[in-house]
Amino acid sequence: MSAFGVDLSPKMIGLARHAYPHLRFTEGSMTSLETGDDELGGILAWYSTHHTPPQWLPAVFAEFHRTLAPGGYLLWGDYVGDEHLHPTQGYGRPVSYESYLLPLDRMAGLLEQAGLVVTARLEQEPGGRLRRPHACLLARKPERP
Ligand SMILES: C[S@@+](CC[C@H](N)C(=O)[O-])C[C@H]1O[C@@H](n2cnc3c(N)ncnc32)[C@H](O)[C@@H]1O
Repeated sequence: MSAFGVDLSPKMIGLARHAYPHLRFTEGSMTSLETGDDELGGILAWYSTHHTPPQWLPAVFAEFHRTLAPGGYLLWGDYVGDEHLHPTQGYGRPVSYESYLLPLDRMAGLLEQAGLVVTARLEQEPGGRLRRPHACLLARKPERP
């Protein structure tokens, strides 16, 4: 299967289609992917989970575990911290959205609870253009015994 992308936002889907016209992008949620069990060789979840309330993260990661093929990898990247943000200004205009920043250990624990094995982690401290800590986790769905 070739690469495809999913986002809740039709505008983000439009931008993605414009940037990568040869790939397939569909509106949808990470909590219910239109993909069968064990089908995906890899998942990139890039700055896309911080809008999800923490109590819903197990459902997202369970969906990643369900759809990944055994031996497949998840690469997750996002802001980390211990804050609930509700910005009212951004990108030079009024905005309204929620961001839930969680400690990296908690994110890694949630991936492990979903049945994934964290094999690498990178945490980048704020500095320069980075106003908040960022992190990446690489996690693998184990092969069947
Ligand atoms: C900060 S943007 C990052 C977009 C893109 N991944 C990138 O790296 O440029 C966060 C995106 O996550 C999407 N998102 C939030 N919750 C989602 C969900 N449950 N399923 C799919 N997309 C979601 C939002 O619509 C938004 O486009």
